[in-house]
Amino acid sequence: MLLQTSAVLVAHIYLVAAWQTFTVPHIDGQDDTPGLLAALGNYTTDSTILFEKGIKYNIFTPIKFPVLNNVEIRFEGNLTYPTDIPAIQGALKAYTLAFGLILLQLSLAHLSNDAVIQSFSGHWFSFAGGNNVTLRGSTDPNWGWIDAHGQAWWDTRNQVNRPHGFGFSKINGGVIRDMKLWKPIAWNFATAGSSNIHAFKNRIYALSENPDKAFPFNTDGFSAGGSNMLFEDNYIQNGDDCITVGNGAKNIHFRNSYCEGGHGLSIGSLGKNGQVADVQNILIENVVMKNSLYGARFKSWTGGAGLARNITWKNIAFTNVPFPIYITQNYWDQNLGPRPNSTSGTNTRVEDFRFESFAGIIDDRPDYFEGTCISDPCWYYVPGANGHEVAIFDLYPDTAKNIVTKHLLPITRSLKPATVMCDPKIISTDVGFKCWNGQFIPTKVGLF
Ligand SMILES: *[C@@H]1O[C@H](CO)[C@@H](O)[C@H](O)[C@H]1NC(C)=O
Ligand SMILES: *[C@@H]1O[C@H](CO)[C@@H](O)[C@H](O)[C@H]1NC(C)=O
Ligand SMILES: *[C@@H]1O[C@H](CO)[C@@H](O)[C@H](O)[C@H]1NC(C)=O
Ligand SMILES: *[C@@H]1O[C@H](CO)[C@@H](O)[C@H](O)[C@H]1NC(C)=O
Ligand SMILES: *[C@@H]1O[C@H](CO)[C@@H](O)[C@H](O)[C@H]1NC(C)=O
Repeated sequence: MLLQTSAVLVAHIYLVAAWQTFTVPHIDGQDDTPGLLAALGNYTTDSTILFEKGIKYNIFTPIKFPVLNNVEIRFEGNLTYPTDIPAIQGALKAYTLAFGLILLQLSLAHLSNDAVIQSFSGHWFSFAGGNNVTLRGSTDPNWGWIDAHGQAWWDTRNQVNRPHGFGFSKINGGVIRDMKLWKPIAWNFATAGSSNIHAFKNRIYALSENPDKAFPFNTDGFSAGGSNMLFEDNYIQNGDDCITVGNGAKNIHFRNSYCEGGHGLSIGSLGKNGQVADVQNILIENVVMKNSLYGARFKSWTGGAGLARNITWKNIAFTNVPFPIYITQNYWDQNLGPRPNSTSGTNTRVEDFRFESFAGIIDDRPDYFEGTCISDPCWYYVPGANGHEVAIFDLYPDTAKNIVTKHLLPITRSLKPATVMCDPKIISTDVGFKCWNGQFIPTKVGLF
């Protein structure tokens, strides 16, 4: 009896302890995706899937991982997408048909699609869900890079059928660490529908050789959907949001990071086509923003609904940022004509927003130009702005409550005094500076 029990116990321990490692096979000149997919079924639990150091893997078709439990995917080797644009578009088309993805997952409202119209094309690396899944890159600076050859896409301004990078979806308990993305085509990591995610020490390099002509459009760093996420120590050079927090996101913490070249630390856009937004408890702190169009940004569409509350940006150091703080509850597609007059009389409500300790240099050069400006006026043009604004509050009547700034220390490149845009008829509480369209004059609330 005793013997039997211990035999069962031993067998049980053996099963629990059986961790397997699968080294992804590689054949020179061929697509390595089929070889991976063929074996993957045996490694969906308690496994390491290893892209070996010393090998340059050809990921010529998308990889769709099945549901995974206790799986670590290690990127020790280099991975390359096809260098040829039609090859990618062809692969995406086949993939989309095969998986019946169509436009089901289309949720442009929570992507940052600033000025351009996209057609959604799926992720090159997609996940179906699971528990305790880790993506882990190499700490060797020469290895572990995933190269999408984005420059060719940026050069030709190709915005048709672009793959997204990693769709790290529906995962509970996930880690994204030490990952290194080289010249992605567009969007990088998305965490829609996931929870308890820790993303740290990741590196995204999406800077263009000639940014005025060939801009890295829509190369968002992290699209944070889901709940309970910590993003830290990430180093992101790109051409769109460093982080964008989407609808439904709760308890998101982004900190200790570097963001260069993009569109800021963004919430939204929310409330498109009357969407009822729900975003809560977001803290973004200790971030260096360099050559970024925006610093802290919130945008909700005119005519939206729902609530975004308890959102803090603090300790933001910025250089050459034209719009350090920018909130709009009146976002619309400037390409499609003048701002529509809201007919619904509602908007996404905003409550308890705090902007604390912002210091740096506003880029107020009159000829400032950002590579995403492909219309006249630019999509980011603000009527009435003079370029020296440290904060622009474009709020909607009766829907904005407790918006506070504190310890703002802006200087402008021109050394002219910083200004603000704020309509006292719309917000009557103390926002930390004199609410008007004029010079930035902190109030007591803003100073102490
Ligand atoms: C999966 O594992 C089973 C059992 O060990 C083995 O027979 C099969 O060949 C494996 N399949 C692949 C694709 O490796
Ligand atoms: C989670 O996965 C890691 C490998 O990524 C593994 O070491 C760990 O044991 C797993 N946790 C549980 C609770 O199984
Ligand atoms: C790995 O890829 C990166 C990015 O393309 C490249 O800079 C690096 O040289 C590659 N490493 C090796 C060992 O080829
Ligand atoms: C506000 O959000 C922070 C996280 O950023 C959280 O710690 C805090 O409890 C939230 N406060 C309220 C009142 O929800
Ligand atoms: C919005 O309303 C204002 C004032 O009533 C009017 O001048 C403007 O043309 C309207 N805009 C649009 C896009 O209808």
